[in-house]
Order: sequence, then structure tokens, then C-alpha cells
Amino acid sequence: MRDPVRIAAFASGRGSNVRAIHAALTSMEAPPGMIVLCVSNNPNPGVFDYARENGIETVRLSPKMFSDPLDYQRALMDLLSERGIELVVLAGYMRKLPPEAVRVYHNRILNIHPALLPDFGGDGMYGSHVHEAVLAADVAESGASVHLVDEEYDTGAVVAQERVPVHPDDTPEILAARVLEAEHRLFPRVVVEWAERIRSKKPE
Ligand code: GRF
Repeated sequence: MRDPVRIAAFASGRGSNVRAIHAALTSMEAPPGMIVLCVSNNPNPGVFDYARENGIETVRLSPKMFSDPLDYQRALMDLLSERGIELVVLAGYMRKLPPEAVRVYHNRILNIHPALLPDFGGDGMYGSHVHEAVLAADVAESGASVHLVDEEYDTGAVVAQERVPVHPDDTPEILAARVLEAEHRLFPRVVVEWAERIRSKKPE
């Protein structure tokens, strides 16, 4: 049996998507992938508490720590390479990855977005801003999207989506909670599928 795919999870905050993915993988008899590294741009995000409780290495890495963006990029690429990372999962990660990471991990970086891309995505469309825009647009549905990451925000190919209804009396908070539940179903399923796909291509 081939070794599980080594996954790095990037998060900026509480990390409920990381928790959902980790729970899904660790509940499997022979998981196709394992989260071996958790990276955040913030020093003490909630996700680090979960990672440490579950034996996952945590590394804080941010462009703010470097005077030269190229030094940050090098530090990030060295970290991913030294940990043998094969799949990158952005789960509530509020920064762009440097171009070198997008190039080296082409088609191996997945991001979750709390709307039905390509609508309600792009720069500035994060957190409550997304749900406020959806409610203002008076659409009947919203949902969660998992997409491949390219050099811009939320513009990579959409891999999978799950739709949820929008109710007339929804507030941004109520809609966000409904979408988050969809994220927690969708993202683990896609990460498992993607890890299986990558593992199937690994040499025995
Ligand atoms: C999620 O709504 C996700 O779609 C967005 O940021 C939020 C992160 O939540 N990118 P969590 O940190 O996974 O709980």
C-alpha cells in the first residue's frame, strides 16, 4: 500500500475546516492522506491549538516576518519541501500564496470559498462580506466551492460545490453558518478524493 499523501493545511483563524478534514481522514481505516503540517500567517490562531492537540506540527510563516518577499517565498518553499508536502489545503487562509508555490504545486492546492464561484469571489470577498453580498443580490441559493488555486484570489478551476438555500429572513451570520456546514461536508470529501488521486500516481 502506498504511503498516505503528506498534506499541509494553511489557516488564519479557528480552523473548523482543518478540524473537519483531519477528523474525516483519521476516521478512515487506510487514509489516503494525512495532515502533517499546519501553517498560519498569524502567531496564535485557534487552529494551532487543535493541531498541537493532534500531534500536527505548527509553523507560523508570514511575509511580515521578512524584509524581502523573496526571502519569505524561499522560506515557505523550503518548509514544504523539507516536510515532503504533496498536497496543500487552504482552509480559511487569508493570504495569497507566492507565485513559486502556485507553480511548484500546480493542481495540488485546494481552497474553500463560502459562495458559489465564480459569483461572489475575488479580492475583498471573504468572511461576512461574501454573505452580505449574496443577501444583497437576493439570490435563492448560495453554497460552498472548492477550487484549485492559481495566482489570483478565487479564480482557479472549481473542483466541487455544494448548494444551500438562502431564506428571506437570513442574516449574514445565519447564512454563514449554513454555508459552513456545507463546507464541512464538501471539503473533507474533496480532500480525500484528491489525496486518493495523488496517491494513485505515486510509485509503489
Ligand atoms: C470559511 O468560511 C471559509 O470558507 C473561508 O474562511 C472561513 C474559515 O473558517 N475561507 P474556518 O477557519 O475553517 O473555521
